[in-house]
Amino acid sequence: MLSVDLYRGEDALRADRTQVLRRSWQFVGHETMAPKPGDYLAEDVGGAPVVVVRNAAGALAGFHNVCRHRAGMLVADGTGHCGEALVCRYHGWRYSLDGRLKNAVDFGAVAGFDPREFGLFPIRVETWRGLVFVNLDLEATPLSDAMAPLAGEAPFPAFPLTERRSHLLACNWKAYVENYLEGYHLPMVHPEFDADVVVSDYEVRIEGDVVFQSAPPRNASVYAGTWAWLWPNLAINTYRHGYMIERIVAVSPEETRLDYFYFFDPERGAELREMFVASDRVTAQDKQVCEEVQRNLRAGVYRGGVLSPKHERGVAWFQTRIAQAHGEPAKAPTAVPA
Ligand code: FES
Ligand SMILES: [Fe+2]
Repeated sequence: MLSVDLYRGEDALRADRTQVLRRSWQFVGHETMAPKPGDYLAEDVGGAPVVVVRNAAGALAGFHNVCRHRAGMLVADGTGHCGEALVCRYHGWRYSLDGRLKNAVDFGAVAGFDPREFGLFPIRVETWRGLVFVNLDLEATPLSDAMAPLAGEAPFPAFPLTERRSHLLACNWKAYVENYLEGYHLPMVHPEFDADVVVSDYEVRIEGDVVFQSAPPRNASVYAGTWAWLWPNLAINTYRHGYMIERIVAVSPEETRLDYFYFFDPERGAELREMFVASDRVTAQDKQVCEEVQRNLRAGVYRGGVLSPKHERGVAWFQTRIAQAHGEPAKAPTAVPA
């Protein structure tokens, strides 16, 4: 089990960000969100503002969204178009779309100032099936390695980004991930699920950096019956007529934002509305239990528990990876609380 202290406090969040979130592939959007040269996607990744921009050659390049002058931001978070240059919002330094400083506007003559030494800090950008990921670790292994377990999954249909929704949860991001990685709570927390999938046949499979969960869908289900989760904070939820990418963002030590990106068959308006009802209901139910758990982690009475070998292998695996990232020896779950 993980130490309860890892679910609270700035130190734990800082370590999660530097040891986990800034060293892993982080989803920032879909290629179609930045189709033309000069289009960009800007996001916070592990507490660091980053920007991904499409250059004149049509390729995506990524940078820390920080000006080399006095740390201004080049663009606000979100999507937009910057033309042929990224221009700092503070004093107007201009950077080409490959990150070079082109013009330190009206800076004045300074001996020894070489603009070539003041290019933007690069980050890695790679795509998988249209999904755009960044990695702040320039030495990271390729995205395709992380995605290899998903290679055999059916390709995503080319559905448009239909809707984005975000939900704020008063819990540590890991408490939400742990909830995501087990189906043990389905009968208590999501009793309606049994009408959609055969909960008793729920299965968890771990392969590389991916945890697969599956349950056979019933006939009229909005779900396709498989849920894939990529280390450390991304879920790929498939529905009968589309899919949803779920990004789990650590906003603060005890605050998590879920960003949902829905890609759905535009011909299926009725099913889309039905899917939103199901999706919002499930999120509200998970939010409630995760926030109750966080309240108890904060209370300090609970110091560690036990994990079910039948249902919570995904949770145990996640906790082991987190413990390793924090440099703690991984402790096997035991039947007796430590
Ligand atoms: S901080 Fe960017 S131009 Fe001054
Ligand atoms: Fe749930």
